[in-house]
Amino acid sequence: MTRDSVLSHIPGHPWAKNVLVLEEVGSTNTLLKAMALQGAPQGTVLIASRQTAGRGRLGRTFLSPDGVGVYLSALIRPNAGADQLMHLTCAVAVAMCDAVEAASGIRPKIKWTNDLVIGNRKLGGILTELVFADGAVSGAIIGIGINCRQKPEDFDSSIRDMATSLSMAAGREISRSRLAAEMIRALEKMSRELIPEKSRLMAQYEKDCMTIGQMIRVVRGESESYGTAVGIDSDGGLIVEYDSGITETVAFGEVSVRGMYGYV
Ligand code: BTN
Repeated sequence: MTRDSVLSHIPGHPWAKNVLVLEEVGSTNTLLKAMALQGAPQGTVLIASRQTAGRGRLGRTFLSPDGVGVYLSALIRPNAGADQLMHLTCAVAVAMCDAVEAASGIRPKIKWTNDLVIGNRKLGGILTELVFADGAVSGAIIGIGINCRQKPEDFDSSIRDMATSLSMAAGREISRSRLAAEMIRALEKMSRELIPEKSRLMAQYEKDCMTIGQMIRVVRGESESYGTAVGIDSDGGLIVEYDSGITETVAFGEVSVRGMYGYV
């Protein structure tokens, strides 16, 4: 995957001049955050062939082997406070469903909040991070990793039963360059719609989210509670009805939600 191969799919794109494709990086999110603090503009995009220190949610490692996934971070500079950006990860998830569908014909599902899933297996994940300057939001780093060309044997045996790639799901080779280009296209569109079209994006999120209706286990530190996911609130919180009858909205970042039967 080269810069030219990515940009060939999105000629004249407004973000094209600030798209960088790198061989190896620790974490595209970490590098882009440093660039954001140095004044990089909205629409700066970093794509890496491999990451040596890829990061996931809740401090987890995101394995990023060479040449098989798309590891991409984009910088947006929304003119909004943190309280208006609570739904950012959800908006990105919907945009990534659009991008994967455009590149492969398959629309993934979303496991609340930030996992892309096909056929009950993880396809990819999203890690969004806000950047602050002088106490105000100066930007948002949107990091996405999507498994694109892996075959089953390319996954570590510990995750093989829980992971999939786009090529595996589609039954044909899906180009990483095409996927990266569709991701950029979808993110640029999302950056324009994020605030003005919040309710439509959240309605779409609810449609794409497979967690709703599921029996789930909410893991908060050492404690676990059991209930059913019944909806998504306007900021992306998961509305859970516990077996005790009590209903609660769970904010993301706070808990890990597991289905009762395996990964999802
Ligand atoms: C998750 O599954 O918890 C989120 C994974 C996010 C991975 C992407 S890959 C590109 C960007 N750089 C990182 O270090 N993380 C994100």
